[in-house]
Amino acid sequence: MDSAIGSYICQTIDCSKPATLQCPTCIKMSLAPAYFCDQECFKRYWPIHKTYHKKQEEQDDQKNKFKFTGPLRPGKISARLFVPDHIKKPEWYLSGQPTEEMKSKLQQVVDCKTPEDIQKMRECAAIGRGALDAGHAAVKAGVTTDEIDKIVHKYIIDHDAYPSPLNYNGFKKSLCTSVNEVICHGIPDDRPLENGDIVNLDVSVYFKGFHIDLNETYFVGEVSESSKFLVEKAYTCLQKAIEICKPGTMYRDVGNVIEKYITENGLAVNRTYCGHGVGQLFHCAPTIPHYGKNKAPGFMKVGHTFTIEPMINQGTHQDILWTFDNWTAVTADGQRSAQFEHSILITEGGCEVLTARLPTSPPLDFKI
Ligand code: MF3
Ligand code: CO
Repeated sequence: MDSAIGSYICQTIDCSKPATLQCPTCIKMSLAPAYFCDQECFKRYWPIHKTYHKKQEEQDDQKNKFKFTGPLRPGKISARLFVPDHIKKPEWYLSGQPTEEMKSKLQQVVDCKTPEDIQKMRECAAIGRGALDAGHAAVKAGVTTDEIDKIVHKYIIDHDAYPSPLNYNGFKKSLCTSVNEVICHGIPDDRPLENGDIVNLDVSVYFKGFHIDLNETYFVGEVSESSKFLVEKAYTCLQKAIEICKPGTMYRDVGNVIEKYITENGLAVNRTYCGHGVGQLFHCAPTIPHYGKNKAPGFMKVGHTFTIEPMINQGTHQDILWTFDNWTAVTADGQRSAQFEHSILITEGGCEVLTARLPTSPPLDFKI
């Protein structure tokens, strides 16, 4: 099995074998490559696969017509990576659909984790932290976000865990990489990072039945003073939010703390994407807005686990979607955005940052 690590998954919808055979038409049309495990699968899947050629061309057409808000352009996205058989998969691995997650009562009620749950989440978080640190160590000018995705993917499967984003609502990669004006959900592609870029790596891991979620924003080489300011404030506002996490704190107050600090510094808080419960489900209750005067219900109790992940913009708080990929959220004015995220457990004494940085973590680019 090990020889298959680092290879792609067969594109046939109901096959999860490692695949090395490339569709020759894709090559000829120089489309993002698709792989198949054998001729049999290729033949069987052809009626569906050939529509992929057309879809790719249509997508290219949409990209060419798209009114971009900033300088960043999408690159080519590689095929989906293979995950070894022995790894426990979430429901969306083959279907792409988080059906149970959407139906679950955990979308309405916030559960309190048991000591056993918490132990599993700590193990899961250790893998997530290690994966993010491995990705961070690879960040430099000239490296593509696709290469970083492969490093993070390998780290996670080498630790017998599953990269939660992979095929979640059809997301094609194991990691989200959000460069410059991308707010969140950027898809790793073949664009090399450039000196002066900022890049957010958002890692999520599924292990022993639990998810964990964390992200950080890094400098690529030498960045402008305004980018340094943005990233440092995005980091600090998360720390300020964590300081109020303890039993009894209202979830709505997280946004008040963040908004106050961020607007005092002349920056803006994104209002579209929120923190969320995390655990047996990747995304569940509570929903935690990062902006002020929000109406989020409920308060923190011992055993709650959730993320805080404020997205901070230089200019307008508003975002738009790259409609040709339906994932990438960018700032409406093309200015930059930065983010940090932790998964947090509420304890008797306050909280535990499950995804905290380690002494071995590569240092951030600014004083903390
Ligand atoms: N990790 C993101 C979050 O912080 C979610 C990514 S969903 C994906 O909630 F499909 F894009 F991976
Ligand atoms: Co999250």
